[in-house]
Amino acid sequence: VLILALVAALAYLLGAVPFGIVISRAFGLADPRTVGSGNIGATNVLRSGSKPAAALTVLLDGAKGGIAVLIAGAIVGEDAAQIAALSAFLGHLYPVWLGFKGGKGVATFLGTVLALSLPIGIAACALWLATFAIFRISSLAGIIASALTPVAALLLGHGDKTVILAAMALFVWWRHRTNITRILNGTEPKVGRKKPPQD
Ligand code: G3P
Repeated sequence: VLILALVAALAYLLGAVPFGIVISRAFGLADPRTVGSGNIGATNVLRSGSKPAAALTVLLDGAKGGIAVLIAGAIVGEDAAQIAALSAFLGHLYPVWLGFKGGKGVATFLGTVLALSLPIGIAACALWLATFAIFRISSLAGIIASALTPVAALLLGHGDKTVILAAMALFVWWRHRTNITRILNGTEPKVGRKKPPQD
């Protein structure tokens, strides 16, 4: 139990590194909390106008989740990998250094899923890409992909991972609640179009 608590704490701290802010600063861009939706994720970094900064943000926000899972899995085992996934993900959503106001979790979710199971992770990324290709709305792609990932896990014979994936999907939906309202109103902006209001 002690080792699992340690895994959770370390994964949380890694997940809590806000790469959207770090990368924006490194690129000389505005703090993403003052731009667009005010979110610290890659979609909002893109609204500062830099594709490389947004790409790096999605990669690093994903990688921190994936790395936490891979290290915990290699050193401790499967239970630890799942705990690391949830902890890193919650670290991104509720980082202690930002007054617990973090991101919406899509990149970190995808990174942890890829590390938990490559086939499920590929399915999750494919679901994001397919939804995005149709609607060009980042939030909608994250909402749909996260909701269908636990289903994909069941279909791919990974029932043991369904609960953790469903829990993360619920958090993704909760953090996208203002996006969901705008999607239902038809006012959620497509990527590259007008900026959404601050959340
Ligand atoms: O991952 C975040 C994305 O799904 C939505 O971000 O800034 O459009 O609210 P944003």
